[in-house]
Amino acid sequence: MHDRPTMLREAAAILAENDRGTYTVPTHGLYPFQWNWDSCLSALGLAHLDEDRAWTEIETLFAHQWDDGMVPHIVFHVADDGYFPGPDVWGTDRAVPTSGITQPPVAGFAVSRLFDRATDRAAAAERAARLLPAITRWHEWFLACRDPKSTGLVAIIHPWESGRDNSVDWDAAFDRVPTDGVAPFTRRDTMHANPEHRPTQAQYERYIWLVQLFRSLGWDNGKLHDASPFQVVDPGFNAILIRSCADVAELARKLGLGDLAARNAAMAAKGAAALETLWNARLGQYVCLDRVTGRLIDSPSVGGLLAAFAPLPAHRAQALAARVRALSENITYTVPSHDPDAPEFDTRRYWRGPVWLIVNYMIADGLRAAGQTAVADRIVDDSLRLIRTGGFAEYYDPMSGAPCGGGRFTWTAAMVMEFLAQDGVVQS
Ligand code: GLC
Repeated sequence: MHDRPTMLREAAAILAENDRGTYTVPTHGLYPFQWNWDSCLSALGLAHLDEDRAWTEIETLFAHQWDDGMVPHIVFHVADDGYFPGPDVWGTDRAVPTSGITQPPVAGFAVSRLFDRATDRAAAAERAARLLPAITRWHEWFLACRDPKSTGLVAIIHPWESGRDNSVDWDAAFDRVPTDGVAPFTRRDTMHANPEHRPTQAQYERYIWLVQLFRSLGWDNGKLHDASPFQVVDPGFNAILIRSCADVAELARKLGLGDLAARNAAMAAKGAAALETLWNARLGQYVCLDRVTGRLIDSPSVGGLLAAFAPLPAHRAQALAARVRALSENITYTVPSHDPDAPEFDTRRYWRGPVWLIVNYMIADGLRAAGQTAVADRIVDDSLRLIRTGGFAEYYDPMSGAPCGGGRFTWTAAMVMEFLAQDGVVQS
């Protein structure tokens, strides 16, 4: 699969295969429901085929927004016992069941990108105007429920919220999460994907312990943050929130929605200023903060590079570009999800080393906007080389390019459409 038309055809076929009418599944088998940030990023790919369908993807997700403003990380539209933990474990007690935690808030960015590119301007303006109040409620939910002390930065209270499930970033904080009282369970992920590529059993027990704790508190977001022994401030996650707030502010201004614009702009400005507190000069990148201990986490992961997705001061974007360049020196395909020189680096295990195309897309997008074109181009070229060697996988080994995890992945296909649509890409 080397030429552009074949890649585009294959990407379109994957999006069609994983389309369930009003939402897409990340991939058949392993992930049979709607996932939050998968859907928002996949909508960008859908838009190349059918704009109306792309808007529907995000509207479906927001139809399941909670009354408090939270947008859940999974919507269980249909019964399927191929995934664990299912609705009975979450126990969120909703007509259409959902999980009870959230995911990186990329919807604001996605909606503004859909709007900017829309050919049907009137329809796009109408659909954006309907979504923006809901997206703003989600943004404000973050500040109210995940930043109770008003620091400007929000915490995740479960590793799954980050979207980087088993990153090295969480290891030390996650060690504080007990496993006693976890009901016995059977994992399903390891039936669909190689167990060597997935999180460990010990990590799964902690994931479930946290779900049981939150459930015992009635999923009351007024209580969960403070009750969680795991509270981590992730620069990548916060950068996505800041970028979405900034993009929603701009879009709201274009649509004449002054109040929404002002509220989002204020959140973006406060977050951007606070992000500076996560800078690690020795590593030349941002790092996570363990909110329980109050200490920065010395873990060189891609979360700190994903900060490039937010509008940053020029010298920070330049430093992050240099860091990506340095990390890329000893690997074949950038950007690795963890520093290859760190002892925890693992080429195959999920978020502990492999390359993910959605992360590449966001880093490249931010660096390009900051004028760091050469590094952005390298990221895009490497991403397309991975597709040529490994097909449309969930993620890839940064050394060999071997495809890992699930296959025929929706958001990978969507990112390929995005990369191929960009100017200046070498289309061999
Ligand atoms: C895994 C990933 C997460 C993604 C989900 C569905 O949990 O870590 O980022 O949203 O799969 O693809």
